[in-house]
Amino acid sequence: MPETRAERYEIDGGARLTGTVTVTGAKNSVLKLMAAALLAQGTTVIRAVPDILDVEIMAELLRRLGCHVVVDAAAGTVVIDVPEQLAHKADYDLVRRMRASICVLGPLIARCGRADVALPGGDAIGSRGLDLHVEGLTQLGARVHSEHGYLIADAAEGLVGAPVEFDFPSVGATENIVMAAVVARGTTVIDNAAREPEIVDLCSMLVRMGAHIDGIGTSTLTIDGVESVTPVDHTAVADRVVAGTWCYGAAMTSGDVVVRGANPAHLELPLAQLERAGADIAIADDHIRVAMTNRPRAINTPTLPYPGFPTDLQPMAVALASVSEGTSVITENVFEARFMFVNEMIRLGAAIRTDGHQAVVRGQQWLSSAPVRATDIRAGAGLALAALVAQGRTVISDIHHIDRGYPGFADDLRRLGAQIDRVPDALG
Ligand code: UD1
Repeated sequence: MPETRAERYEIDGGARLTGTVTVTGAKNSVLKLMAAALLAQGTTVIRAVPDILDVEIMAELLRRLGCHVVVDAAAGTVVIDVPEQLAHKADYDLVRRMRASICVLGPLIARCGRADVALPGGDAIGSRGLDLHVEGLTQLGARVHSEHGYLIADAAEGLVGAPVEFDFPSVGATENIVMAAVVARGTTVIDNAAREPEIVDLCSMLVRMGAHIDGIGTSTLTIDGVESVTPVDHTAVADRVVAGTWCYGAAMTSGDVVVRGANPAHLELPLAQLERAGADIAIADDHIRVAMTNRPRAINTPTLPYPGFPTDLQPMAVALASVSEGTSVITENVFEARFMFVNEMIRLGAAIRTDGHQAVVRGQQWLSSAPVRATDIRAGAGLALAALVAQGRTVISDIHHIDRGYPGFADDLRRLGAQIDRVPDALG
């Protein structure tokens, strides 16, 4: 599996993004579809798979559980052969590299009656971050405890369907419980389930595998357990976050960009926001066009679970606000620590004050280049957009974060007219 090399992006300010860009399947869907493959003995094929490191990490995790996995990056496919007997332990070295590894928990306990999944760094049972996963599985009859840094779930006699009520619609917990419930005995009803398009995608694949799930796309999912499910060939839903990133990039740079391959319905709120900021939006079945002629107007953006404004596009909203006319308030309602990257934005000359979960952004005509650091996937992409409107050449380090969510990021930006170089980081 490739190790990440220390590299940086150097991006010239002053670009106007124009042209066409095509998005592939969503990382946040593909990783879960790969985990769902564990439920069915035989060969699962997943298509529209992005060429990103997280897919390799998930493939390695599945291999260590006993699967034979072939990732064809050029074709955008992953082929997973699942044996009758699976191992049930997901090691720390992989879980540490990708928190989303926790999504093997549901399928593993369903298939093996036991799952040992390393606790992602910083988490413990009962901590915010895992409590809903644990509560849900416990409702289905699993006994869950932690030992030597592992979360151990045990249901030797099998899981039994039950009502599960989340006090927050967690994406990961919804996915884990759905995957566990599909082959549990009896009926599970998940109340306040998350309904992100990636969850709809996962449920659609599970239904094609033979699962019985009602209420897909709503906040109440009813799952009637079946004896077993069979493998399928499934194409992942398009990545709305990557698509949204390019839409924001177009609007911020007075650009004109056509985004192909995305489903506009999944970006209803972000596109409405951009329209409010002054962009011209044209929507067709297979593409979205975003054009902006004037300086954007300030708009307020609160993030919320889907269908609300996605927290994964919050950094793009902050980047847009940093060059808009007027003052914007960005409110983060999903993740607590997601304003960490604001300090990097301030290094680029953005005028931002944060107070708890709110950022008040006073728009500037231009930002000013500086060395900055990508702190996570989406923050990194937000900084890259900010670099496009910063005078001078901005150096972004720790770009392995960006690589985790954006296949061919630099190529896409270059295609849209930006000057961007990827260079080894001497300090790395
Ligand atoms: C997924 C996405 C991520 C996105 C997020 C919200 C993947 C791989 N990642 O993350 O890109 O930003 O959805 O759309 O799909 N929480 C709890 N207890 C739990 C679980 C979560 O309190 O048991 C809290 C978290 O601390 C967080 C919030 O709920 O504050 C959202 O988390 P969740 O919806 O679970 O997001 P992820 O599945 O981790």
